[in-house]
Amino acid sequence: MKTESDNTYSTLDQNSPKKFFTTITYGCQMNENDSERLSGQLKSIGYEYSDNLEEAAIILINTCCVRESAEKKIYGKIGELKRLKAVNPNLIIGITGCMAQKDRDKLFKKAPHIDLVMGTHNVHQLVELIKEVEESKGKVLAVWEQAERLAPNVPTVRKGQIAAWVPIMYGCNNFCTYCIVPYVRGRERSRPLQDIIDEIKQLGDNGFKEITLLGQNVNSYGKDSQEADFADLLQAVDKITNVERIRYMTSHPRDMNAKVIEVIRTSKKICEQFHLPIQSGSDTILKKMNRGYTTQYYRELVQQIRTAIPDAAITTDLIVGFPGETDELFEETLEFIKSIQYDAAYTFLYSQRSGTPAATMPDQLPLAVKKERLQRLMAAQNDISLELNKRLEGCTVEVLVEGLSKTDQNKWMGRTRTNKIVIWEKRGTEQVGQLVQVNISTAQTWLLKGTLVE
Ligand code: SAH
Ligand code: SF4
Ligand code: F3S
Repeated sequence: MKTESDNTYSTLDQNSPKKFFTTITYGCQMNENDSERLSGQLKSIGYEYSDNLEEAAIILINTCCVRESAEKKIYGKIGELKRLKAVNPNLIIGITGCMAQKDRDKLFKKAPHIDLVMGTHNVHQLVELIKEVEESKGKVLAVWEQAERLAPNVPTVRKGQIAAWVPIMYGCNNFCTYCIVPYVRGRERSRPLQDIIDEIKQLGDNGFKEITLLGQNVNSYGKDSQEADFADLLQAVDKITNVERIRYMTSHPRDMNAKVIEVIRTSKKICEQFHLPIQSGSDTILKKMNRGYTTQYYRELVQQIRTAIPDAAITTDLIVGFPGETDELFEETLEFIKSIQYDAAYTFLYSQRSGTPAATMPDQLPLAVKKERLQRLMAAQNDISLELNKRLEGCTVEVLVEGLSKTDQNKWMGRTRTNKIVIWEKRGTEQVGQLVQVNISTAQTWLLKGTLVE
């Protein structure tokens, strides 16, 4: 594992027994990045990471509550830890992240073996909170209602060695009617431009090649600080010489604009990948979702992108079974995705989140209806993804080598600039982090297979 800010770590007594921690992370990249900051803080007080739950002195579960299915899974995991606590009463179990922010002290009632509940705005306080648990041997709750404008920087231990996440802003002001995120992540706060640039340069110095700029709605970057907007940020990041590729997520279609598209078109490092969650292809549903755009607007946006950058990949998120979605309105979504031709789509069953406006809307749909629609939507999208990928057969594409294929150690795995996974037979000359050319021979729905061009 690579570490940064190593100078902030305390020197360990070589003779003291090792103390281990584990983090288990659910949810989005923002949570993954938070876990890296949690790990960095524990490392700074002498703990080492271990996958082995049995030997851990601290277990942190970094949680997500975007859908009920995520919550159920997490409660199941928390339940499993009871056994470990029974064997080792000194074990510290901490629940962090979005579900902790939402459920607070209710978590102690549901699972009395938990020691610490820490909200999304308290991530930087982990060291002092762990000390509090150790000293008090009681329950510690740290959930701030609101964030400080920007949390102080803390040491980070990165999970990868090639690709790294860099948050550019926190929170969301959009309040889409189905979504819990604005309630658990607070209002939009942008990081200063220079902080972001410095972090990326340091990552480049440490060998990272690909940077993903993170935010719930990256296009809103700078609206609160007025220092620079998202296009200015992209332009500045593109000039950093020691990284190869820049990605960003997630864009809100309403806030994507001509200036951003132009910066991407003329940039060298910003990848031609546009993740633009449409959520529904029906204007009636989009309005109920409070998404702030129409299908007509969105079609024009896609047209604008494809005119400027013909090779751009366009991907999306879709929710099926939003309250009031009739068969006809669902058909509109099917027609819509066929007309746009997405490279890929992440599809979700609508999940009722209490406290959001959609949770109390009339005409909530039965699970069976949602499931049937999801199947049809996925099947339609798979056909489109396969067809678009097939067009790459015979083409040579630039791939960043990420590592060995998980299923076959004789093969490498990497990604195109458009974020498609590529697998190829090992030749022995490639190295992790290198940019190589691969000729695509076979396209599948979710991956491309090819041979190295030397
Ligand atoms: N800020 C990002 C990501 C939000 S969460 C964005 O706006 O795109 C990621 C995805 O989860 C969303 O795009 C949406 O498709 C899905 N999602 C959010 N709330 C949901 C809910 N209540 N039920 C089902 N899917 C949901
Ligand atoms: Fe949720 Fe909408 Fe904000 Fe995305 S933009 S996090 S879907 S409220
Ligand atoms: Fe989940 Fe929180 Fe991300 S609810 S999707 S982990 S912002």
